[in-house]
Amino acid sequence: MAQTPVCLYSAEQIAARVAELGGEIRRRFGDTRLTLLGILKGSAIFTADLARHVGEPAELSFVNARSYGRGTVSSGHVRLGQLEEEVLKDRTVVVADTILDTGRTLATVVDRVHEVGAYDVFTCVLLDKTARREIDLAPDLVGFAVPDKFLVGYGLDHAGRYRALPYIGCLGEDGQ
Ligand code: IMP
Ligand code: MG
Repeated sequence: MAQTPVCLYSAEQIAARVAELGGEIRRRFGDTRLTLLGILKGSAIFTADLARHVGEPAELSFVNARSYGRGTVSSGHVRLGQLEEEVLKDRTVVVADTILDTGRTLATVVDRVHEVGAYDVFTCVLLDKTARREIDLAPDLVGFAVPDKFLVGYGLDHAGRYRALPYIGCLGEDGQ
């Protein structure tokens, strides 16, 4: 039976940190041709909240990525959907991801964004699971450094569940 995740970051804590991250992006990149690129599905909610703190005239784009299947351990192989090249080419692109784990997903997206001709590429992650990094990748902006636990809520799922939780919580060892 599904358990109630234990709260790690409340909706209020998340909102405060996302506001700071959005403000920082606005300060650093607000005078460039900026596109925020969210990684679906897990970063839909984070990217939408972030975008409203970055404000106009940033453009918004999304790309689909899959690496987990239905488990709690990355399959190691990242499959990316189509990139919206016309809003990435010659732009400053900030790639937003809710959680950075091994680093494979973000590294794959960053490489592809360079390939389609972005002017410059930066990364913003809300949660950084530093202990599990397999790719040498340091995000430009980090919301919270988090322990090596499987987290759900605020867009993050386990087998499709919990994305709509307003807080970020952790599940037990077996993901149940
Ligand atoms: P990476 O490619 O191993 O860095 O994994 C990044 C992606 O895996 C994220 O965009 C999430 O979709 C997913 N992921 C990693 N850790 C978690 C977690 O603790 N909970 C839910 N999804 C996660
Ligand atoms: Mg997932």
